[in-house]
Amino acid sequence: MTATAWILNGPNLNMLGVRQPEIYGYATLADVEAMCREKGKALGFGVDFRQSNHEGDLITWVQEARTAAAGVIINGAGLTHTSVALMDALMLIEAPVIEVHLSNIHRREAFRHHSYISKAATGSIAGFGPNTYVLAMDALAGLIGDNDPEGRITA
Ligand code: DQA
Repeated sequence: MTATAWILNGPNLNMLGVRQPEIYGYATLADVEAMCREKGKALGFGVDFRQSNHEGDLITWVQEARTAAAGVIINGAGLTHTSVALMDALMLIEAPVIEVHLSNIHRREAFRHHSYISKAATGSIAGFGPNTYVLAMDALAGLIGDNDPEGRITA
């Protein structure tokens, strides 16, 4: 059975491409998804890519990912800085959790410097635009693909 990485995206990320392009660039979320699918093929794992503007959707997906995902890559967007509930859900995941941000949240406004998601994450990557997601997939493969001589995820 192919292992699957769940890639979860929070509020307003559906607006990528038109949303503050000077910060987030011109790539759309569909472009980011296509990059992730291509990378998934190269690494030998499936990709389940989702976005919601609703906190509850993300929490439910994280709960589902607990038993279904080989790892979770999450861009909580604005919820990163506010949601104890999303952090609590992520705490239950035993597989690797990688926090991603398109922008470098640490060089932006002070309110973006604190991340609840970081408390539940194996590691965090921020600031490389859409490529942040690709880097996170490499990191995930490194964390859970150790047993495969070709570096692919096997469990
Ligand atoms: C973001 C950074 C957050 O601070 C912001 O609220 C977002 C996007 C990023 O990917 O850079 O919505 O998560």
